[in-house]
Amino acid sequence: MGKLYYSYQMIHKLAQSIAEQVKESGFSPDVIVAIGTGGFIPARILRTYLGKPILAVGIAYYDLNDRPMDYPRKVQWIEEAEKQLAGKRILLVDEVDDSRVTLEYCTKELLNYRPAALAVSVLHNKQKEKRGTFPPGVQHIFVGENLGDDWIVYPWDARDIDEHDKNATLGH
Ligand code: G4P
Ligand code: MG
Repeated sequence: MGKLYYSYQMIHKLAQSIAEQVKESGFSPDVIVAIGTGGFIPARILRTYLGKPILAVGIAYYDLNDRPMDYPRKVQWIEEAEKQLAGKRILLVDEVDDSRVTLEYCTKELLNYRPAALAVSVLHNKQKEKRGTFPPGVQHIFVGENLGDDWIVYPWDARDIDEHDKNATLGH
């Protein structure tokens, strides 16, 4: 499996393209919900373009005894979520749609709060067989870039950001 390096510059531009798609679609979110941790930085950039507040949620794939699980569980969730999200138009943000399991879980949870509308946005969608599916309540899926099944290396995981940026420049 190849590795694809993305610089902060490239991430910013993907987020900008998502914001443009959101605007063109006519979907006007009231609130951005970021899935941590990969969704935090993309959500913050989207806020620059869309100007909406961000709520954060956290998901884990291990149980309380640190054993891996097939399905995610909540580790951090929105307090008083029902009150904050009922009747609102939500834009859910993550960095990558890989297996789609996290996104299925989070969209189903959010739909329980009876939002007025729900859309999903990701910087990257991997075009592969997905284990998860989007529930019918998801009205839009905004994708920065569609890729194959390569491993994406994000700048926030870099130990040496200069080396990372060189790889990003060489690879694209
Ligand atoms: P999905 O539903 O959004 O497809 O995500 P999935 O549960 O399949 O992904 C499990 C974890 O693997 C997620 O991180 C996701 O960000 C990460 N992941 C999947 N493909 C890639 C990739 O190509 N590059 C990188 N860097 N990460 C990838 P997580 O457990 O939520 O951790 P966090 O990093 O978001 O905190
Ligand atoms: Mg993630």
